[in-house]
Amino acid sequence: MKYSFRNDYSEGCHPKILEALTKHNLNQEDGYSEDIYCNQAKQLIQEKCNQSDADVHFLTGGTQVNLTLIAHALRPYESVIANEMAHIATHEAGAIEATGHKINTISRADGKLGTDDIQAVLDAHYFEHMVAPKLVFISNSTEIGTVYSAEELNELYDFCKKNNLFLYIDGARLGAAITAKNSGLSLETISANCDAFYIGGTKNGFLLGEALVITNDKLKSHLRYQMKQRGALLAKGRIFGLQFQTMLENDLYNSLAKHTNEMAKMLSDGLRNLGFSFLIEPETNQIFPIFPVEIIKKIESDYGFYIWEAINSETACVRLVTSWQTKTSDIQTFLKDLSQIM
Ligand SMILES: Cc1ncc(COP(=O)(O)O)c(C=O)c1O
Repeated sequence: MKYSFRNDYSEGCHPKILEALTKHNLNQEDGYSEDIYCNQAKQLIQEKCNQSDADVHFLTGGTQVNLTLIAHALRPYESVIANEMAHIATHEAGAIEATGHKINTISRADGKLGTDDIQAVLDAHYFEHMVAPKLVFISNSTEIGTVYSAEELNELYDFCKKNNLFLYIDGARLGAAITAKNSGLSLETISANCDAFYIGGTKNGFLLGEALVITNDKLKSHLRYQMKQRGALLAKGRIFGLQFQTMLENDLYNSLAKHTNEMAKMLSDGLRNLGFSFLIEPETNQIFPIFPVEIIKKIESDYGFYIWEAINSETACVRLVTSWQTKTSDIQTFLKDLSQIM
């Protein structure tokens, strides 16, 4: 295989993380994220979010954060509103449903939710024979690589507050959203415009790990109990603290995400020059070009990628993902190979 565009977590981690882990390896520390590194990382996150009262918790992966936070936020009869492509609705093995909560899905090709979409769900659920929608789930960037700008988030959050709904952002690829062109996003604008969100590490050069940030006081109490009961309170929590410190100091987190998006832009420009179109306009590091099936068959032994969906009997959309580790030469070689077989 020459190169895999399957995912942004195919590589290990950024060398600076290994350096930090090695440097502090033999120090003794308290467990369960009560160590000095986690405390410093929490403070750093609070500072970057400009939210000194925010609660910060470290968990290992996205599914775990989603189900822990959602289970914590909802009463048994309450439901989640999400786009039908949302990770919780399609790729988490029913983890949310297993906590007892229905997901009310909305079909929208850009992977997002608008206030009209949410209002339609609210209108359709009006008495106790139905679930009571209570939490709006979005991801930024979305499942299909699109981005909610700061303005869009603000509009959604206003609507949620007016309608007594929680707004929760799955930030598995938050760095890609923050560094997307014209997003107007930062940790500060994001944390000011939702009740809880997570800063995704796994897909942006960490070994593993996500930081859940809770700004709404109503969601804070006993979260560590919820985590513990779900096996999400890691004894070796220090591994999270060291990684978040390393990535957030000197803005390494954003510079890796920026590189990832730049590689995707180079790839999508190159594909466009070769005459390919896209299922949706590329915005971040997941892009969705449409290839003839013949070409897919010819490139799949040399390159890793997922087939997203069939367009017709002759063409299909594939998902190509770049990462913090993708090199210009990886893109150039791929584009050259494609042009030669066309
Ligand atoms: C948007 C989003 N949320 C959550 C997850 C789940 O992450 P994990 O596989 O770490 O549970 C993913 C993983 O691909 C994702 O893309």
